[in-house]
Amino acid sequence: MERKWWKEAVVYQIYPRSFMDSNGDGVGDLQGIILKLDYLRELGIDVIWLSPINKSPNDDNGYDISDYRDIMDEFGTMQDFDQLLTEAHARQIKIMLDLVVNHSSDEHPWFIEARKSMDNPYRDYYMWRPGKEDGSEPNNWGSRFGGSAWEYDEQSGEYYLHIYSKKQPDLNWENPVLRGEVYDLMRFWLDKGVDGFRMDVINMLSKAEGLPDAIVKDGFKYGDGVPLYCDGPKIHDYLQEMNREVLSKYDIITVGETLGVNLEQAKLYTGASRNELNMVFHFEHVFLGDGKLGKWSPQPWKLTELKTIMSRWQYGLREDGWNSLYWSNHDQPRAVSRFGNDSPEYRVLSAKMLATCLHMLQGTPYIYQGEEIGMTNVRFDQVTDYRDIQTVNAYRDFVGDGQLSHSEMMESIHQRSRDNGRTPVQWSAADNSGFTEGTPWIGVHDNHKEINVERDRQDPNSIFHFYRKLIQLRKKHGIIVYGSYDVLMEADEQIYAFTRTLDQEQLIVICNFSDQTPVFELPSHIRSEGRELLISNYEVDEQEKIDSLTLRPYEARVYRLA
Ligand code: GLC
Ligand code: CA
Repeated sequence: MERKWWKEAVVYQIYPRSFMDSNGDGVGDLQGIILKLDYLRELGIDVIWLSPINKSPNDDNGYDISDYRDIMDEFGTMQDFDQLLTEAHARQIKIMLDLVVNHSSDEHPWFIEARKSMDNPYRDYYMWRPGKEDGSEPNNWGSRFGGSAWEYDEQSGEYYLHIYSKKQPDLNWENPVLRGEVYDLMRFWLDKGVDGFRMDVINMLSKAEGLPDAIVKDGFKYGDGVPLYCDGPKIHDYLQEMNREVLSKYDIITVGETLGVNLEQAKLYTGASRNELNMVFHFEHVFLGDGKLGKWSPQPWKLTELKTIMSRWQYGLREDGWNSLYWSNHDQPRAVSRFGNDSPEYRVLSAKMLATCLHMLQGTPYIYQGEEIGMTNVRFDQVTDYRDIQTVNAYRDFVGDGQLSHSEMMESIHQRSRDNGRTPVQWSAADNSGFTEGTPWIGVHDNHKEINVERDRQDPNSIFHFYRKLIQLRKKHGIIVYGSYDVLMEADEQIYAFTRTLDQEQLIVICNFSDQTPVFELPSHIRSEGRELLISNYEVDEQEKIDSLTLRPYEARVYRLA
């Protein structure tokens, strides 16, 4: 397998709005990030992925960009950005930007022009269609944030497509002039020294020919367009063109966010000879337990389902392509609440277990801000405490039409709302968790007195120091990056165990995903003599036999055999 720096790297995602506020206006900013660079260096990460920092009216917290070459007012200035880049590089930390080019803001000058008239030169930068014969929307696709994906424009009598909010009109990638504009703005940032892009819903650039109606799922008013607007017919042409024109000219990291992607498609996006992207984020494990109304009607899920998904991707991309590894991000609940156990008894243990599991898989690990101290989901009492457009609209739609009661919906929100990941980083036990001197734009979790960075840094047994150790191990043992994966005890509902193998070397990774005490059985072909314990989340007696091992709740161990 080819060695690459971005395979060896660990990425840390910053959601700037919620990371650190330097000037007391309640909103995180670029100077706030600069203040915390030494902290990130201490953690040991190699790359920061910054969620969008461009100018934006913030209908979707920056995922609606009105100027691709400028900085959002609340976050600072271009000078602040240049300083951030220099200071990060001085600490050997690379910066990856979020590239949001499936859509722009409706306040982008392109769209302001486009809606002026049908023959405006910018008209064709967006996706306009006349209504059906009866005047209704051009097709039945639903917006991912509720309602129709089409908005009627009085002046021209046409509709424009917006897969997200109506303030996020979809760009028309069929238009080569638009594509050229995007490549230019990418070069603008790369020439400044930026080290790569995380590409927002990048598999949505090409939509099905003719934009046909979609299947309407039970419980929904509009069609589910995912099969029709994801991985469309021209997507690989576009990405190969982007690679030829821009990406191939720089030594950068690229990761595509690819909603609903399957393994076969992912091989095409990430295969080494395909010249598209380094890796993609798939959604299979974060969709676990989705019910009839998707994440708004969450159901229990089984560990075997999780293992089947992870294994499929591990085996599938083991020879060619590359995995990205994540438990959470700004669109997901907190990792420990979702996949572990956030009760006081097991929070620390299960957060360490999850970290072990993820960082020992093959792929590039992504840490989402706050995950390294085991931040948990939040339970705001009122819907009005929520800021996320998706959450607010879903409450309106599903409670509004009586499909879910208020309390059912609040429970779903507590489990799955995107705002779980967006409460401010808990830096200390101080007021507002040391995030701001002012009034935070979204509530701070009231557990910040117990769960915070200051406390974790002081405690050698903390989750924070455990993450540091995992990152250091990655730097020391190439097998963690390049070793091939094999699953053990596939059918077990409590233990996720696997090996990694590289030449004569082998790792055994044992993770107990339950609060029970299941028994790990070492397969007889693996000889455990001369083993070395690399990391564990409990005290371990090094002499203990491991061929039949009773695990403690949420126990995790990694052994190295050489
Ligand atoms: C991606 C982003 C999400 C955003 C959406 C629209 O899924 O991660 O936060 O709302 O795209 O840009
Ligand atoms: Ca601020």
